[in-house]
Amino acid sequence: MHCIRKVTDDLVWVGANDRRLALFEGVYSVPAGVSYNSYLLTDEKTVLFDTVDKAVRQRFLENVEVALKGRKLDYLVVQHVEPDHSAVIPDLIRQHPEIKIVCSARVLEFIKQFYNFDIDSRVHLVEENETLNTGKHTLQFIMAPMVHWPEVMMTYDSTAKILFSADAFGCFGALNGALFADEVDFAKDYMDETRRYYSNIVGKYGVQVESALDKASALNIEMICPLHGFVWRSNLSEIISKYMLWSKYEPEERGVMIAYASVYGNTENAAEILACRLRDKGIKTVVFDVSVTPASEIVSAAFKWSHLVFASTTYNAGIFVTMEALINDLAAHNIQNRRVAIIENGSWAPTSGGLIREILGKCEKINFLENNVSILSGIKAAQLSDIESMAQAIGADFTAPSGVNQNNQAALNTVDPAAMFKLSYGLFVLTARDGNKDNGCIINTVMQITVTPVKITIGVNKANYTHDMILKTGKFNISVLSEGVPFRVFQQFGFHSGKDTDKFASSGEALRTPNGVRYLSEWTNGVISGEVKESIDCGTHTLFIAEVNQAFSLSRDPSVTYQYYFDNIKPKPQPPKGNKKGFVCKICGYVHEGDTLPDDFICPLCKHGAKDFEPI
Ligand code: FEO
Repeated sequence: MHCIRKVTDDLVWVGANDRRLALFEGVYSVPAGVSYNSYLLTDEKTVLFDTVDKAVRQRFLENVEVALKGRKLDYLVVQHVEPDHSAVIPDLIRQHPEIKIVCSARVLEFIKQFYNFDIDSRVHLVEENETLNTGKHTLQFIMAPMVHWPEVMMTYDSTAKILFSADAFGCFGALNGALFADEVDFAKDYMDETRRYYSNIVGKYGVQVESALDKASALNIEMICPLHGFVWRSNLSEIISKYMLWSKYEPEERGVMIAYASVYGNTENAAEILACRLRDKGIKTVVFDVSVTPASEIVSAAFKWSHLVFASTTYNAGIFVTMEALINDLAAHNIQNRRVAIIENGSWAPTSGGLIREILGKCEKINFLENNVSILSGIKAAQLSDIESMAQAIGADFTAPSGVNQNNQAALNTVDPAAMFKLSYGLFVLTARDGNKDNGCIINTVMQITVTPVKITIGVNKANYTHDMILKTGKFNISVLSEGVPFRVFQQFGFHSGKDTDKFASSGEALRTPNGVRYLSEWTNGVISGEVKESIDCGTHTLFIAEVNQAFSLSRDPSVTYQYYFDNIKPKPQPPKGNKKGFVCKICGYVHEGDTLPDDFICPLCKHGAKDFEPI
């Protein structure tokens, strides 16, 4: 029986899912299956965009017939000839011999290589930016070579503002009844599989993806229809911003991915110890055993994290087999722009470290940490201190003020657009540094005002000591608070003045951005470093206009909004005992018992005045 979904009034998804595929392309595990998307436009002419894999041939052919409602099929647009999208073309032609195949010369060449039907009599060749009118709709064809094969073409429906994006913006995973990305919790459930799809399928071709993104940026796109995964009809920036990062090989998150290959557990031991020492410093870590985790997942993680550590035993005088495969895989996928550290092990002749360095050294912008660790069989005291040194050297990248660790400035001085999207009318810890004094306060006014360059405004109360520090130094950090932040953070930064308190006294190790200013690593989903370009006196507050010179994401947790703070974080005022009357501070929840509140009353907790109190 057919199984279709409406995309728009005249566009229908006629694809299908496959949950029995063992390995996509014979290489990539797809435990949650995969979808093969095809779309039918029913305008004055009928137009089908690509076909599907042979595994779902029968369902697809039935879907097309049902969606056509007895009409003939006028055009098949072939954007990509890889057989997971073209295998059913011969069947479709047998069913609809009148069909015209719309494709590029390169697609034509590939179709002839793969199939034996007569295409010359039914081909309609198109070139870059050529258009085809189908009635109400006008289709514009855009070449996107190497995203993922050389013949790839995308199609822009300028009437409906839909981009049919071929493999780009695709995702592993069956659709499970959903079709649109906004029907699922995409960030939580599908972003990892989107990254794994991107990094393994088109990760090698960052330059070509950038070129396709450039072309797409000139179009007014309201919907993206890829060949795998979900249709994007809202919040397109969520996926586009990821592609902007991935195509430039920019890390998505600051943290350390540790991949180890261990035969008897000693190399694993070293990897685990390093992970613990890094966590001690507040640095995020993920750890993979390369003999257990599929390489595609580790390649994907390497595209995500800023720092990579490879720990491998030596095997037959070389790199351990599974690690060697991973390292070659990473190099083949063009991994670049990463800070890399190596731990090697070998009972009589450790060589794996040098060999890993040799392979990765050929990749672009790989900055090796010099504090490597070499183990002879098991960890002894000397190696323990080497691991600690490695953790410290990596930690320096996360705490270093400007000038330290120049090697990694490329990774550090990036502006991740995803971090900018975390902004809301929310709550932020604003930090600054003057000489040796660190300070911070809570603010709720951060707004992005331009994209090129990225500029933001912040409004800061003149009574705050942080205000004076920023006025003097021109530098600050914004830590975007995320849901889950405890009330004590607001007490720590909001309820007293840095003039007479060290607000960081109870904090752990100082994490700093390259501008030397501290930031919060916990309960923070993004960090933004600003340099003041202008300031405007707004009476009680100063409005600082600043250029962003670094921004990075720390988690996917939602940002705290003021509403969320009041509903979920701020303690609910407890009524005064007995029949006593009282007033509650709207800022911090402090309760003043009494029938009246003096006009000059100052909250003993947060120092706000009587106007911020309300009767209970
Ligand atoms: Fe889904 Fe490159 O094919």
